This record gives sequence, structure tokens and C-alpha cells, in this order.
Amino acid sequence: MAKDKVKESEIAVHWQEEGIIHPKKEFVDQANMADPNVLDRFKAENWPDCYEEYAELLDWDKRWSKTVDTSNPPFYNWWVGGKLNASYNCVDRHLKEHRNKAALIWVPEPEEEAHQVITYQELWVRVNEFAAVLKDECGLKAGDRVTLHMPMVPELPVTMLACARLGVVHSQVFGGFSGEACGDRIVDSESRILITSDTYYRAGKLLNHQEKADIAVKHAESQGNNVDKVLIWRRYPGKVSSNSKMTDGRDFYVDDLLKRKKGARVAPESMDADAPLFLMYTSGTTARPKGCQHSTGGYMSYVAGTTKYYQDVHPEDVYWCFADIGWITGHSYIVYGPLANAATAVVYEGSPAYPDAGRPWRIAEQLGVNIFHTAPTTIRMLRKLGPDEPAKYNFQFKHMTTVGEPIEPEVWRWYYEYIGKGEAVIVDTYWQTETGGFIGTTLPALQPMKPGSCGPGALGMQPVVLNDDGNSVEPGSAGNLCMKNPWPGRMQTIYGDPDRFVETYFGKFAKRDSKKWQDWPYVTGDGGTLSEDGYIRILGRVDDVINVAGHRLGTKELESAALTVEAVGEAAAVPAYDELKGRVPELYISLKPGFDPSGVDVQVKNTIEKMIGPIARPSHIWVTSDLPKTSSGKIMRRVIAAISNFMDPGDTTTLSNPEIVEPITKQVQAAKKAMDAVPEGERKKLELEVQNFGDD
Ligand code: PRX
Repeated sequence: MAKDKVKESEIAVHWQEEGIIHPKKEFVDQANMADPNVLDRFKAENWPDCYEEYAELLDWDKRWSKTVDTSNPPFYNWWVGGKLNASYNCVDRHLKEHRNKAALIWVPEPEEEAHQVITYQELWVRVNEFAAVLKDECGLKAGDRVTLHMPMVPELPVTMLACARLGVVHSQVFGGFSGEACGDRIVDSESRILITSDTYYRAGKLLNHQEKADIAVKHAESQGNNVDKVLIWRRYPGKVSSNSKMTDGRDFYVDDLLKRKKGARVAPESMDADAPLFLMYTSGTTARPKGCQHSTGGYMSYVAGTTKYYQDVHPEDVYWCFADIGWITGHSYIVYGPLANAATAVVYEGSPAYPDAGRPWRIAEQLGVNIFHTAPTTIRMLRKLGPDEPAKYNFQFKHMTTVGEPIEPEVWRWYYEYIGKGEAVIVDTYWQTETGGFIGTTLPALQPMKPGSCGPGALGMQPVVLNDDGNSVEPGSAGNLCMKNPWPGRMQTIYGDPDRFVETYFGKFAKRDSKKWQDWPYVTGDGGTLSEDGYIRILGRVDDVINVAGHRLGTKELESAALTVEAVGEAAAVPAYDELKGRVPELYISLKPGFDPSGVDVQVKNTIEKMIGPIARPSHIWVTSDLPKTSSGKIMRRVIAAISNFMDPGDTTTLSNPEIVEPITKQVQAAKKAMDAVPEGERKKLELEVQNFGDD
């Protein structure tokens, strides 16, 4: 990314400052945290010991002797000397009081299939028996990495907790990702075992997922990483529903292996607080995804605390987080946070609007869901498809979360009025794969809601907005959103690449010779503003990452996939405005000499889908004779991003080929007339993203 081209402070905020809305008294009266003193307890002067309040929510085998060791920034160890097990904290310790209470309620996509209620006792049995499989049949032990590539089935949390029981580091790859994408993550995490599923339902179709395992293993092996065993959970145990063939000696059905483990019990491994619990891959500015490594003690304390205080989960609540466990939201706020709090978590297999836009509300009504958690994209979609649907069903939420993207005040209000029925609080939670848990949001009983702003820094967090020189900007001005302090939920490192960790998250502003954590602000990669009252607004990414429907895609990942198509000579990916998904990727390509353009667009779309997954499928492929370049030959993505979004491409005189801009503009904008109007509020956000888009 070119340096110093941002003048964020000159960019106006994107939405009008909104009025504040207070929670209803009924909510405050029952809230887990309604004591205003908590804000004092978590003030900067009480950092880092304030976080003991979170750590004390867990059961420790051995208590820590020091809160945090910051002697080697930016690598910090939380709860030094402490020992615990995550699986024990999510399962075993609840048996005494909640043995017969639902831990998970799994809702299959076909409405005629009954849902499955898994009590804490049943979860404990399943986790133990599967842990025995991992230990005895796969020889796995603490510290080994295992790749999971599973859809939204209850066996996924069972698998994660079985790994955690042994201290095995799980790396779950989003089920919708391709076999190739899974293979790359197997290689990066050096996994020798892959755990997958045979089939699952999505939008009415039973998908063959097992075929992706064959591709993943082959892909990993071509890079020198052999996979010894593939464990396959069956959608219908005992029945074959995928037409993929089993590979002898490598592939095993889990239901077969479990037959030998009836009644097996595996003692939870007592892990050091800083032992890694899992890896979660996310996109960055290079083609290689980053394995964000999360710790056992720090992470567990942070998600237990934020689930209790911010999600306001009590054991008697029915909590439905409508995210995929394959993303960090599902790890933190379906599995580890809720189960650490003895909650009942709903896991839904399928598409939000299948078979119609009333489905989520039927589920909510039937299960008595009272806490609901989803992304703005889903809210926009449900609003578009069935604005009057929520009113037809008899459910009442006390609390609703939004996550993953900025939510427009207009959509926020629909969420509040129609889904929350004017009663539920909305908690807009800002965070990232890297942060482990919420970092900017409102404590629902104590801090009022403000549509369009996620809220102040979460308890203990010290957010700051810096300009490109590293100085704080005036309240209300935009800049690089950073977090001054370390916190327990933050990732420990990028697996296998500590240098990249330092560069990506601290490189911009760190005083590299300093050993003081104060000199190492965490750079979120988001543009944002902090208003006088301390509320944060997120303006979007300021790096080469596109946030599609709350999921991050690196431009380089898209481009390198496109470049595998033989005809493609050059490729550049940019974000374009989309009414439902926020952003969608568009690709500009130029062809190698002598290649025929016909059909290349479809080929590129299909290749990207095959290599990464359907969420990465570009909305448009623009085949152009050349791409705008600097005199040193770098593609000016900023210029084409402006073209895609009907914005002024700015000064193009420094380009080596300025004459190309006009014909590309005509070509693209004539074809896209339909989306001519990017709404005014969106335009400001886009301007910031586009200005920052990298050239190379
Ligand atoms: O740009 C921010 C946006 O999503 C990015 C993180 O993406 P990911 O690691 O996939 O995690 C998504 C779920 C935690 C951020 O850098 N983002 C996340 N939450 C919000 C948001 N933007 C605005 N408002 C939010 N509440």
C-alpha cells in the first residue's frame, strides 16, 4: 500500500450523528451487568488487573501468578503460570447444576426433520468419546494441529471441544470454502488429520461436502504435506449420503470409530494459559491467509466475560447466534463464550431464508429464542424479502446483536422496530478474527445505543484514532482506528509467521526499539472516528481487504486465483458497493496477447469460486485492453475502484497510461447503469476505502 496518501481527517463522517436510545427498564432489571461501577473498575488506571473479573468466571486448575507479561511487545502472555482446560470449562463444570439442561439445540435445514437437543450431560459424553477417537485412533496429543472443514452441525462443537480436551489445536475452515482453500490451510497449519462431513443441507440441497476432502488432501500433498487420516462425520450416521468414494486406510466414518468408544472418558488436559487453543485463518493483504493463533487462558477469559456482560447470556436464556461456526463469531459467540456461561446455544444448519423469509422467526418462536445475533447483511436480506414476516410470529427478543459490517441507521431502525418489536436492545459489536472478542460496543444496560456507531471501546479497551503520522486526531475526525492497550482476547501471533504478525498489526506506528507496550498500538486496519462521547464509527477497511457480507477477502487472493486462468495476463480486484452485501468484489483483467476474450469472464468467476468458495465469486469481471498503471508499472487499484463505484478517479496524470481511464470508465459505467446511485451516506465510506486501495 502506498504510504501517506490518506487524508482521513478531511473525510466527513458518513452518517448523520444519531440520537441515543436507552434500553427498556425490563432489560436493565435482569441484566448481568447493570452496575455503573464496572466502568470505573475497567478504567485505564486499573489495566491490566481489571480483566481478572473475566478470568474469575472460569475454573482454573492453577491460578495465575501474574496478570500479563508485556516484556516482549507485541507478544504478550496473559494469566502467567495459570492452568486450565477449555473443554472442562465449557462442559464438565456445568454438570453439577445443569446436567440436564440443553447446551446445544441443533436445527436442521429441512423443516420436516426434528431438531436435536443436546444436554450438557450428552455433550460431555459425546466430547469424551470423540476425544478418545482422536487420542487412540489418531494418536493426537497436546500441541498437534488438526484441520476441521465442517458445516453447521452439532458435531462441529463436539469436535472442537474434543480437541480442546486434549490440548490439540483445532483449525476450522469455513465449510463453504473450497477443497483447495482447505488444502492450503492444512499445509499452513501442518495438519496430518482432516475432520470433515459427508453432506449437509444448504438452500434445499443436500450438498456433497466429502468431495472437497479429496481435493483438499490432494492439494496439501502436492505441497508436501501428507494427510494420514480423514475422519468423516455422517449427516445420517450409518447411511451413505455422499457419492464420493472412501479411500482405504485413509478415510474413516466417525460413527464407525465411535462404536468402539462407547463409555470412553478422557481426562481434560491441564493446559498452560498461553497454550494455543485454536487457529482461525483470515484474509490479509497477501495471497496467503493468516492463521490467527488464539490462546487458551486469555481467549477463554475474554469470551466468557464479554458473553456474560455484553451478550447478557444467562443459563436460562435461549441464545441464537446466526453466524457460521467456521468464522470467529461462531467460535467465540456460539461455542466457547456461551458454553462457558452454561447457556443454551442454537445452531442452525442452513440458509437464513430457506424455504422463505419467515424461517428465522419460526425457529425463534418454536425454541423460545430471546437473544438473537446476526450480521447486517442478513438483516438487509430478511428486510428485503419479508419486511412484514417478523410480525406474524410470536417471539420476543430481549437482546439483539449485530456484527461484521457497519449497519446503516435505516437498517438499524428496522431491526429495532420489526425484529426487536421496539423492546429488545441492539448491541452493535465491532471486532475482528484477530481480536478474539468484542472491542467496540455498548454494555447494554449501561451505555445507550446510537444507530450507526458501534459504541465506545469495550471494557478495558483504550481505542484511539491516529492520522498517518501517528498522532491522535480531533474527536469526530477520521483516521486509523487503533487500540492502545493489550487485552486478553487478542491473538498471540500468526501461526508460523511472527514477523508478519508484527508488521501487519503494529508495523505502521510501533516504536520498534521500545519494550513498552504503550509504544505498540494495535492497528485494526479499519478507518474510524471517535466522537466526543467516545463512541466509535467504523468507516471500512483501509487496507487491501474487501469485506463482503461481513467476510474478509484479500484482493491478492482473488487476483492470484484469477491469474491461474491461462488467458489472464493481469488482474486487479476492487470493492464495489452492493445494496445487500455492503461490498462485492469486482475484477479487472487484461489478457495475454493472442487470447480470445470470449468466455474468459465466466472462466475467471468459476475459477475463483472453485479455488476460494462461492462467497468470493466476483459480481463483475471487466476485461480491458490494459489496466491503469504508475510509471513503475504498478496497477492503480484506486483508480479502477473509483470507476466501479461511479466516483471521481482523482488525479490520473501521473499514470503511465492515462488515456486508458476514459474508455474503461465508459465500458464499466455503461454496463452498470443500474447501480448508478451509490447512496450519499455510503459514498463517504467508499471514498475512504477507495483512496486507500493499494497500488501494485
Ligand atoms: O472492517 C471491520 C468489520 O469486519 C472486519 C473484521 O472481519 P472478520 O475478522 O471477518 O470478523 C468479522 C466478525 C467479528 C473489521 O475489521 N467489522 C466487524 N464488526 C463490525 C465491522 N464493521 C463495522 N461494524 C461492526 N460492528
